[in-house]
Amino acid sequence: MAVRQIVVMGDPILRTATAEVDAFDRDLKMLVRDLFETMYHAEGIGLAAPQIGISRRVIVIDLRSEEQPEARLALINPSVVWASAESDKEPEGCLSIPGLEEVIKRSLAIRVEAVDIDGGRMELEAEGLFARVLQHEMDHLDGILFVDRVSALKRRILMKKWKKIQAEED
Ligand code: NI
Repeated sequence: MAVRQIVVMGDPILRTATAEVDAFDRDLKMLVRDLFETMYHAEGIGLAAPQIGISRRVIVIDLRSEEQPEARLALINPSVVWASAESDKEPEGCLSIPGLEEVIKRSLAIRVEAVDIDGGRMELEAEGLFARVLQHEMDHLDGILFVDRVSALKRRILMKKWKKIQAEED
């Protein structure tokens, strides 16, 4: 088990569509453990494999602190099979874009199909914050970041801010 380094925006792996998992082996279990450990270390509520440099369709989420006790999950090969027409807008951040936050429109409720760490099929319904985090993390698996889901104008402002943050770190 290890806390891995979180990749930040600018690294091409965050823009690469990930490969499906087909081996439910020790490597996968280690990947899931590392994802949880890295997420807890960074005090996040969700993390996707590309964020630690692994281009695979794996995400972890833990919303137990948000009083959703069922919401500690590792999802392998997840996909959205239904999304509500109703949406909501809430601020989002991302461990791979530290310092930026923006209001993002997401489906209010979704149904997701996935497999668990042993390869067993699972289906779950989520709404509110849980649905939002799932959508955010699943976007990572397709190389999409929250900054892609805003208007062109807002995106320019966000990218300017990001450049400033990056320059301050150098
Ligand atoms: Ni993210």
